[in-house]
Amino acid sequence: MLHSDFASSVKSLHVPEMGTESVAPLLYWLLRTTRPQCVLEVGMGYTTPFLAKALIDNKEAIRQERELLGTPEGSECQPLAYGDYYNEPYEPKLICLDRMTDPASSATRALGVMEDLDLTSCCEVIEGDLRGSSGRVRETAGSIDFAWIDTWNTLAFIREYWDLIDSAGGMLAIHYLMTYPEGRAVLRYLESLRSREGGRLEITNLREPHRVAQNSVTLLRRTRNYEDPDDLRPNGDRNDPTGALDVQ
Ligand SMILES: C[S@@+](CC[C@H](N)C(=O)[O-])C[C@H]1O[C@@H](n2cnc3c(N)ncnc32)[C@H](O)[C@@H]1O
Repeated sequence: MLHSDFASSVKSLHVPEMGTESVAPLLYWLLRTTRPQCVLEVGMGYTTPFLAKALIDNKEAIRQERELLGTPEGSECQPLAYGDYYNEPYEPKLICLDRMTDPASSATRALGVMEDLDLTSCCEVIEGDLRGSSGRVRETAGSIDFAWIDTWNTLAFIREYWDLIDSAGGMLAIHYLMTYPEGRAVLRYLESLRSREGGRLEITNLREPHRVAQNSVTLLRRTRNYEDPDDLRPNGDRNDPTGALDVQ
């Protein structure tokens, strides 16, 4: 969980111009919700400890849930637990890529803060320009379940790293593509990838309307090879929140 002591420990990494004070906890909760195994961050700083903490908190949550599985307490606090999910090992990894040359960025200080918080066990840092580094990322990560990019050269990233993102549900979050022409062009390019993905690409833009710049996050989910599991619901067709079965 994100308690106030965590917030005060990472405060020194916050750079207001980077505009990630809301995005960082949003990323934390996206990772808590989707529980990815392999996360890539390109552009380190304030967001980095939030990503690492989410993976470590996921690991602990899964350990606790496994212990409760099949017990009466378990069915009270996790009545919807899906047993098969817990058969897979969960050893999450965070790969952070940054060229470490931006004096305004807190990237170079992120690892130190994370060491104090004991958040580095799942982290690996690659120092270098994202352009031409996909081979190193592939060697370390294999396939990526969740990527977050907050740098220059976003378009180069999309072109070079797209195939590293798992086509069976992998997600990509991109900072600040809305409200300026070049960003809009990248959004159109992303839309154009839909046909390459057989129409199976989910895209959502989250706008932060109170801000002049760094004012959006775009979320993509590749679903070309995603297969929805069959009917994961208890109580058969009596469990239908959609109301579809009420329609005569
Ligand atoms: C906007 S800051 C990241 C902010 C950070 N996510 C935060 O929440 O504080 C951008 C970072 O990306 C890095 N960067 C910019 N362009 C890059 C590139 N082409 N390759 C690698 N890193 C890059 C910079 O060194 C800088 O640390």
